Amino acid sequence: MTTRREFIGQAGVAAGAAALGLGSTRGPAARRQQGMTILILGGTGFIGPHVVRHALARGHRITLFNRGRTNTHLFPEVEKLVGDRNTDLTALEGRRWDAVIDNSGYTPHQVGLSVDLLNGATDQYLFTSTRAVYTDFTAEVMNEDAPIGPGDLPESEWTAYGPAKVLAERAVEDGFGERTLVVRPPVIVGPGDRSDRFTYWPDRIDAGGEILVQGAPTDPVQFIDVRDLSEFYIHLLEQQTAGIFNSVGPGAPLSSAELAYGIRAISSAPVSFTWVDWDFLAERDQMPQRQLPFWQPPSGRYLNYGRMDSSRGIAAGLTFRPLAVIAEDTLDWHRSREVGGEYRLRTGLDSATEAKLLAEWHEAGG
Ligand SMILES: NC(=O)c1ccc[n+]([C@@H]2O[C@H](COP(=O)([O-])OP(=O)(O)OC[C@H]3O[C@@H](n4cnc5c(N)ncnc54)[C@H](OP(=O)(O)O)[C@@H]3O)[C@@H](O)[C@H]2O)c1
Repeated sequence: MTTRREFIGQAGVAAGAAALGLGSTRGPAARRQQGMTILILGGTGFIGPHVVRHALARGHRITLFNRGRTNTHLFPEVEKLVGDRNTDLTALEGRRWDAVIDNSGYTPHQVGLSVDLLNGATDQYLFTSTRAVYTDFTAEVMNEDAPIGPGDLPESEWTAYGPAKVLAERAVEDGFGERTLVVRPPVIVGPGDRSDRFTYWPDRIDAGGEILVQGAPTDPVQFIDVRDLSEFYIHLLEQQTAGIFNSVGPGAPLSSAELAYGIRAISSAPVSFTWVDWDFLAERDQMPQRQLPFWQPPSGRYLNYGRMDSSRGIAAGLTFRPLAVIAEDTLDWHRSREVGGEYRLRTGLDSATEAKLLAEWHEAGG
């Protein structure tokens, strides 16, 4: 006997409308040929605009729902409904869409409200979750069946980002059952990424010189390009797929050395890389994710953080751009931010700290 949760976990296959009990009689071919109506909860931040552009290019009709605060200049040709998903969803009442993409849900309260309202008003509800639902990365195979949530805490205390997303996923599952569609991305990178966690590397490498890279050259690194993610979303909806998907790239294992030298290929600046081990950096309070984006030491509970399994997503149509394309496009976008003055990155080592750490490392014999 397969439980509903197991079914959803295993359902990473293109499934027909009939198999999933969808209200719509339009199958994948009709969805592609005639286009779909898609509501995006959010749509004007980072992922949203890429999803909108790709969906419009595929001939779909888009409605955006948000508060009308972020990037209001975008998409004048697209229908925009205004409301606050925490308190006021009235603009969504009485409407119907083939599919909903929920990019802006972080808590079970928010997601429960929209799921309750939209359950009878759409065939599919794609929820943007996160790799952070896995708080322990020690499972041998880090696929969608690996444990999620902080098992040792009572659920009333699941308020941090990852645990709250676990509860939000559950709200989708409670409403949509076997039609649940959840995507769990790792760090999302590419043009428009204001976290700068990836952007630091092409920018730093293009500046040349001796470059400090954290950890070991063999450390595994994973991320997803925002355009690959957006294309995957629309593909999942066109195919009427249900299930839970790690949408983690790249397609083949990538070490930090391959990342560094792969990005170096797009620049003509003379560079050398010096790997500085994690313990040395930790002793000097240089923490992963903050100063040193964007991978973790592959040990302790992060053992397989950089080895997430994406085979279910790949079987459902997830594809990956080459690293050089991602790096070049990201750098071009970043340079466009610098027009009219230097742009200060949010993450990464500043040049004085990097030089000091490298000098100390060499003094210590590294
Ligand atoms: N960045 C990463 O590396 C990463 C990794 C894994 C998962 N994620 C997930 O990606 C999602 C964020 O994506 P994004 O920011 O790129 O999404 P987005 O859809 O591009 O932008 C966020 C949107 O939410 C709207 N919004 C915010 N608060 C709202 C509210 N109370 N009511 C209605 N609309 C609201 C904003 O517009 P207004 O301000 O105008 O309301 C904006 O349109 C999150 O679910 C996050 O967990 C991100």
